[in-house]
Amino acid sequence: MSYWLSRLDAVAWLRTLPDACVDLLVTDPPYESLEKHRAVGTTTRLTHSKASSNEWFAVFPNARFGELFAECFRVLRRDAHFYLFCDAATAFEAKPAGEAAGFTFWKPLIWDKKTIGLGYHYRARYEMILFFEKGKRRLQDLAIPDVLQAPRVHGGYPTEKPVSVCETLVSQSSVSGEVVADPFMGSGSTGVAALKLGRVFWGNDRSDAALWTARERLAPLGEEVEGERALGAALAREAQLRLL
Ligand SMILES: C[S@@+](CC[C@H](N)C(=O)[O-])C[C@H]1O[C@@H](n2cnc3c(N)ncnc32)[C@H](O)[C@@H]1O
Repeated sequence: MSYWLSRLDAVAWLRTLPDACVDLLVTDPPYESLEKHRAVGTTTRLTHSKASSNEWFAVFPNARFGELFAECFRVLRRDAHFYLFCDAATAFEAKPAGEAAGFTFWKPLIWDKKTIGLGYHYRARYEMILFFEKGKRRLQDLAIPDVLQAPRVHGGYPTEKPVSVCETLVSQSSVSGEVVADPFMGSGSTGVAALKLGRVFWGNDRSDAALWTARERLAPLGEEVEGERALGAALAREAQLRLL
């Protein structure tokens, strides 16, 4: 399977894509409330590592959710899902912003990290994954629960998500050969899941460290292609689907 990587601002990258060319979006922006956690010391303090050239990436302000979700809605095909990793504080901002863009909000899924982390008011053990829908798409397996258990990734890219959690989302909401995209891909966990499951992956991140890390992880799993080829293949597939 193939993958295409870009290094742009997430919204700017989505704006380069034609309408209705992506089958599934799974993403994890560096939400604004991370700054608050960092200020009071309730999230990981990062040191220089092989995966990050600076101490932490800049946050994506909640004020930009409107433009982000409008683009997410536009690039998704008619019947498609959109998953957004976030914390509880961000969920209150992201849900109405997603609905204003046209999505149906179903529910937050919980990523249960299985062990407690930092925090002063009940120790942090979970993160949310907001489940949005454009149109109507059936999940592949109706027996999957809304709590997905997987241990934290230690020593990886800052805030790296477990591939097993991404695999559940990708296998629930796409089929083989479809395009899975992540505009804030970081180390590319969504991409690893997508390629392992026989999907095409389109990833973007504005940091060089993310691009290096993702490329290193994705190279053994698929063939990297240029944007022109990736978009050409998606448009050809769309034309074929219209004929069916
Ligand atoms: C929370 S991390 C994603 C981690 C990823 N899910 C993983 O498993 O490795 C957020 C990423 O968004 C990137 N980022 C921050 N602002 C961005 C922007 N405006 N456009 C694109 N990427 C951005 C950061 O460089 C960082 O890699």
